[in-house]
Amino acid sequence: MVTGGTGYIGSHTVCELIGQGYQVVIVDNLSNSERFIVDRIEQITGTRPAFYEFDLKDAAKVDELFDKEPDIKGVIHFAASKAVGESVKIPLTYYRNNLTSLINLLESMSRHGVQNIVFSSSCTVYGQPDKLPVDESAPIKPAESPYGYTKQVCENILRDTIKSEGGNLHGIALRYFNPIGAHPSGLIGELPRGVPNNLMPFITQTAYGIRQQLSVFGDDYNTPDGSCIRDYIHVVDLAKAHIAAIDRMIGGKNKVDFEVFNIGTGNGYSVLEVIKSFEKVSGVKLNYKITGRREGDIEQIWADTTIANNELGWKAQLSIDDMTLSAWKWEQNYRKG
Ligand code: NAD
Ligand code: WQD
Repeated sequence: MVTGGTGYIGSHTVCELIGQGYQVVIVDNLSNSERFIVDRIEQITGTRPAFYEFDLKDAAKVDELFDKEPDIKGVIHFAASKAVGESVKIPLTYYRNNLTSLINLLESMSRHGVQNIVFSSSCTVYGQPDKLPVDESAPIKPAESPYGYTKQVCENILRDTIKSEGGNLHGIALRYFNPIGAHPSGLIGELPRGVPNNLMPFITQTAYGIRQQLSVFGDDYNTPDGSCIRDYIHVVDLAKAHIAAIDRMIGGKNKVDFEVFNIGTGNGYSVLEVIKSFEKVSGVKLNYKITGRREGDIEQIWADTTIANNELGWKAQLSIDDMTLSAWKWEQNYRKG
């Protein structure tokens, strides 16, 4: 079962799961995604996943689904609200959605004997780390936003619940760094509603002429070119990490009942380097200007992925150019219709 399976990361993961022979059931309320994504998944994979449209905040519906689909062996839980800025404006909506959805799922899984869950966490839990690259043992820093806090609390909800289940529940929290890029087919990709908050869709929309200009938020950071550094990871590599995580639990290879892995490439790129890569692969000169810093941005972060590489047997393969090129292909395909 993939919650949030028509969303950005969920849809790519569903394609990989089907490719690996899994039968997939998607649950999504389409609050931040489109129904046609199910058709696109079918186009890519040749298989149409089961699709249930409902809100995970509705506990009765969650129960109904597990009743109807008794073969579910594991859950990959993507569904959540994810816009950092919006979470500051409507924190209760974020707390209600992100916490209630997970709690409903865990209660229903327990009632139905479903024993494996992968949870979408985020590098945001580290804040600005004291040591780079950051590994999983780094301290969790006070959250910068209600969104970030929901990831911290959800990890704790999972940890406590798994402990209380005495071996009957296994969980893996994947702390994603910055997912960008799109499926090589150009049929699915990131689909932000309104003005994008994130860098990559803002770049591709500016290049396409939907936005006038990209603002680069600051070039006076303590980094080689002054712009912020992130560990961008191709969404297809990220999707594959979920297969490794679910295989690990279903195959009984997890070492403890609750595990946490960093999912990044281990490389940091600056905002200006991402722009350079985009201009190179697309041949488009991007209209951008350096503006002031964005409030709440951390200066630099990239992952130590040693544990994920060794334990999950997973490693990111795709380059920054693969990421920017696939994002551009998707933007153009999507706009052409
Ligand atoms: P997304 O918004 O594209 O996908 C989330 C999906 O969940 C959407 O299709 C939405 O309609 C659905 N959804 C939300 N609330 C729901 C509910 N109550 N019931 C049913 N469906 C619901 O987001 P994404 O980028 O694919 O992110 C997936 C997960 O990964 C999220 O948990 C997010 O917090 C986490 N994450 C994302 C990033 C990122 O940069 N994209 C980074 C770290 C972590
Ligand atoms: C990347 C870099 C910006 C837009 C957010 C969440 C984090 C995680 C991933 C979910 C930064 C710069 C951006 C623009 C810019 N999500 N930028 N101009 O902030 O690293 O992380 O998404 O868990 O929790 O906080 O990603 O894509 O917004 O920014 O210069 O128009 O691009 O300053 O350095 P971020 P982002």
